[in-house]
Amino acid sequence: MVDLKVNGAAVSVDAPDDMPLLWVIRDILGMTGTKFGCGIAQCGACTVHVDGEATRSCVLPVSDVAGKSITTIEGIGSTPEGKAVQQAWLKMEVVQCGYCQSGQIMSASALIAAMPNPSDGDIDGAMSGNICRCGTYVRIREAIKDAGKSL
Ligand code: FES
Ligand code: FES
Repeated sequence: MVDLKVNGAAVSVDAPDDMPLLWVIRDILGMTGTKFGCGIAQCGACTVHVDGEATRSCVLPVSDVAGKSITTIEGIGSTPEGKAVQQAWLKMEVVQCGYCQSGQIMSASALIAAMPNPSDGDIDGAMSGNICRCGTYVRIREAIKDAGKSL
């Protein structure tokens, strides 16, 4: 058994130590907002927060996060940054197909929590690991700026 804190709730999961956190979140805990894209830490679709840091859950063994605080897309809206990002996403109509967007929102929330007024370079640096096949990058950049200003 591995003890975790997920979106503020203590959970105990029966999973092998080397099972990726993404599998635990989706298949054991049943929270499917976090997406599987590449499985090799290259696309960002699986991004969650581990102790507030944007992290690729597809390559992270669950045993590495025992006792840590995990936030997923299902819980990010209850943080001030996550709420601001989600509202800005709606305002700017960022989403196209949507597949990458939970990961984008998780990375954006971590960015503005650390840096409420990021420059274009800061945004590009923080978001470069999140790929969008629909090319929503321009709207993402504007929405991050809008979210930061609203905090
Ligand atoms: S699925 Fe984890 S980075 Fe692509
Ligand atoms: S909105 Fe379609 S992949 Fe990003």
